[in-house]
Amino acid sequence: MQALTSFTSRFLCRQLAACQVLGSNLTSLPQHKPPFFNNQTRMASIKPADRLIGQPGNVWIEFITLAFETKSINLGQGFPNFSPPENIVHDLVEAATNSGPLMNQYTRAWGHPRLVNIVADMYGKYFNRTIDAMSEVLVSVGAYGALYYALMSHVNPGDEVIIIEPSFDCYEPVVLMAGGTPKHVPLRPRSYDVESTAEWTIDKEELEAAFSEKTKAIVVNTPNNPLGKVFSYSELEMIADLCKKYDILCISDEVYEHMIYEGNKHYRMANLPDMLERTISIYSAGKSFSATGWKLGWAIGPAHLINNLRTIHQNCVFTCPTPLQEAVARGLELELSRKEQPECFFNRIVETLTAKKKKMEKWLREANLSPMVPEGGYFMLARIDDKDVDLTDFGDGPRDYKFVRYLMKTQGVATIPCSAFFGPEHKHIGEKYIRFCFIKEDETIDAAGKQLVKWSKSLKK
Ligand SMILES: Cc1ncc(COP(=O)(O)O)c(C=O)c1O
Repeated sequence: MQALTSFTSRFLCRQLAACQVLGSNLTSLPQHKPPFFNNQTRMASIKPADRLIGQPGNVWIEFITLAFETKSINLGQGFPNFSPPENIVHDLVEAATNSGPLMNQYTRAWGHPRLVNIVADMYGKYFNRTIDAMSEVLVSVGAYGALYYALMSHVNPGDEVIIIEPSFDCYEPVVLMAGGTPKHVPLRPRSYDVESTAEWTIDKEELEAAFSEKTKAIVVNTPNNPLGKVFSYSELEMIADLCKKYDILCISDEVYEHMIYEGNKHYRMANLPDMLERTISIYSAGKSFSATGWKLGWAIGPAHLINNLRTIHQNCVFTCPTPLQEAVARGLELELSRKEQPECFFNRIVETLTAKKKKMEKWLREANLSPMVPEGGYFMLARIDDKDVDLTDFGDGPRDYKFVRYLMKTQGVATIPCSAFFGPEHKHIGEKYIRFCFIKEDETIDAAGKQLVKWSKSLKK
């Protein structure tokens, strides 16, 4: 019964989290009991598969739920609280309602033809090579789907996968589910008081020490979530040299490819000498078009690697939603046709985010929360280890987890603890920071900023 109650409360928490994201209120929670919630039904003793044993908890469930419960101003989860460009929304409506009945039926398993064609065209220009739309592109449910396929289709039990940290929190669980062992190598700030993500670097010896005959792959994320670091050419070159030396796969997560701030440049791992044949590059329409709920992404790589991902895809979701793919295809066609013009959405979003980044930075400085200025992406870390607040009543875990709970419960501002993006050995690096997401309406950033400044002033008294 206790297990059932805990299951039910987890179920409700998830519903709460979902409602919060959708902006709905408690009254929209389902009023019915799920069918398994029947007093006469005995709980069957069905054990989960072994691959779920040892899976780390998910940071989002707790903090999204708490943000909802505390009605916090949400600078936590990484999604815009404004609408995507009108043209792609219009394209989606048009695709679903006015493009013939087949537009609402299954499309090609590996990707809707119009979408893979424009992806091949567009990325062919970025990669300076011809990409075969039919064999070198795979459309997935978000970049998440492509990451899952890339790891699941290459990692065997016993294999090791190097993860550069801080890292998007799905890499490790998927490696574990595949039976692999994550090997974490951290980016570290050059000194305690650095203020730019360019000052976070990997130690070459430490990285090479993580390689062994068991190493199968490395996951690199540039621009990086949560840090906002954009890897320089020489940093990628150092990683690429090791990939070639140890003959391993490189999974290059580049979902923030278009969000690069002035003075920085996005380098694509597959473009480095001799890296094409061993690199799977991963992108996200949700991130690129400020429409994270669309959950559409793609992997690009040589046919011999993409073919492996296809095997998982065909036995998993088989194909992705047709009208969404059509709308994203039309959106990419438009942006490619005006890529050098300021109206191009990928240029406009940089301009919008540059202003929001400055706003976020200004508020954090005013609130005495030293910001780490990002080179790309839409997150900003802020240092909290020097904040002398009593966190005894704010649960367990690393200090940043307690601090995030404290900020939500006492100040109504939601953020995400940075140590969630580090493996067990390096949580102490992340524990000093919390992550703010600034792809939010200006009013949201201002409201959070004002609250933080007020809080900061109260601390000094
Ligand atoms: C680095 C990184 N990779 C992948 C994803 C997942 O992207 P998608 O929403 O397209 O699945 C995210 C989402 O936050 C991310 O930050």
